[in-house]
Amino acid sequence: MKKIDIAVVGASGMVGRELLGLLEERKFPAGEFYPFSSGRKPAQAVFRGRIYKCEAPSLEALKKAGLVFFVSMDEVSAKFARTLAEAGVRCIDDSSYYRLAEDVPLCIPEVNGDVLSAESRLVAGPNCTITGAAVSLAEIHRRFNIKQIRIASYQAVCGAGREALRQLENETQEYVKTQKMPKEKGVFPHPMLFNLFPQVGGFDEEGFCSEERKVAAELKKILNAPDMKVSSVTVRVPVMRGHSLGIWAVTEKPWKIQELKQALLATPGLKFFPKPEDYPTPLKYGTRTDIVYAGRLRAAETAENEFQLWTVSDNLYKGAALNSVQIAEYLLEHNML
Ligand SMILES: NC(=O)c1ccc[n+]([C@@H]2O[C@H](COP(=O)([O-])OP(=O)(O)OC[C@H]3O[C@@H](n4cnc5c(N)ncnc54)[C@H](OP(=O)(O)O)[C@@H]3O)[C@@H](O)[C@H]2O)c1
Repeated sequence: MKKIDIAVVGASGMVGRELLGLLEERKFPAGEFYPFSSGRKPAQAVFRGRIYKCEAPSLEALKKAGLVFFVSMDEVSAKFARTLAEAGVRCIDDSSYYRLAEDVPLCIPEVNGDVLSAESRLVAGPNCTITGAAVSLAEIHRRFNIKQIRIASYQAVCGAGREALRQLENETQEYVKTQKMPKEKGVFPHPMLFNLFPQVGGFDEEGFCSEERKVAAELKKILNAPDMKVSSVTVRVPVMRGHSLGIWAVTEKPWKIQELKQALLATPGLKFFPKPEDYPTPLKYGTRTDIVYAGRLRAAETAENEFQLWTVSDNLYKGAALNSVQIAEYLLEHNML
């Protein structure tokens, strides 16, 4: 089998480490391996049993790879990804920088793999928050045409990276030691332990936080539904890993609840629990799981043809690293890489 030389920018981060584990576990045919980090402090990456020193990325170094995974910062993707893609290097970007660019496919393979082509040298993976909604609603949308979606997200701390997870761990240890409530804000706008707050990202002039804007714009792009109305409240909760969503959706076509159940049971990449008490939780289904989990389907009474659903997915796997690997696998399987 053909081998592909790969580079990972952000190999020492939360998503980067999971990505390396997944490439190994899923036997991705990697040839040479080039790991990169900020270079601001010594960093290592472990891949196929070998320890590599991470370097700061440069265009020249990245050009040695046939495929580059970007799992670092928006500005790093902005600096390198398009230039590399134009030079013929395939780039899969997990930052938000290119997700809404018209010429960049935004892809979850089981939802819209058909947006990928041999020509798309630069491909973006979506925000980890919308994965649960995009995967779980895709088949219902195909069958009943969803017109409106409302989402309340309950987002785990590791969605904000390594330092955020460390903060919750430290606050927890400190509380166990001292029984005092945390006071320091750390990387978040408020202490995280025993708390939650309706803010993920900064606010714009109209009062939306950046995550809420991303949810709406990216969901419309992935579901290829520019006229769909989407609103959300994105909430950070003291869960370590695994994002949960409460979803309300209104369809154009009427349905019977049994028909929605059948659509959910037939949805690729989704495990739907028809019994209400079997709902998924982030503790059980939010760590190192490959698919999206959904339950608590019911009709809602706030609009005609409106239903409610609950989902849980692993923000680091399906919401980021795994989705990127699946994009690469899709390209490979379809002879596009
Ligand atoms: N966490 C999630 O659930 C999630 C989900 C979807 C998408 N994403 C996206 O994935 C990316 C990484 O997130 P993360 O959670 O893994 O963050 P993280 O744990 O904070 O890791 C960030 C990584 O980026 C590296 N980095 C920082 N500045 C860099 C620079 N100038 N040049 C090269 N590398 C640099 C860091 O290197 P050092 O070790 O040297 O600091 C580290 O390897 C972000 O774009 C994020 O939006 C994250």
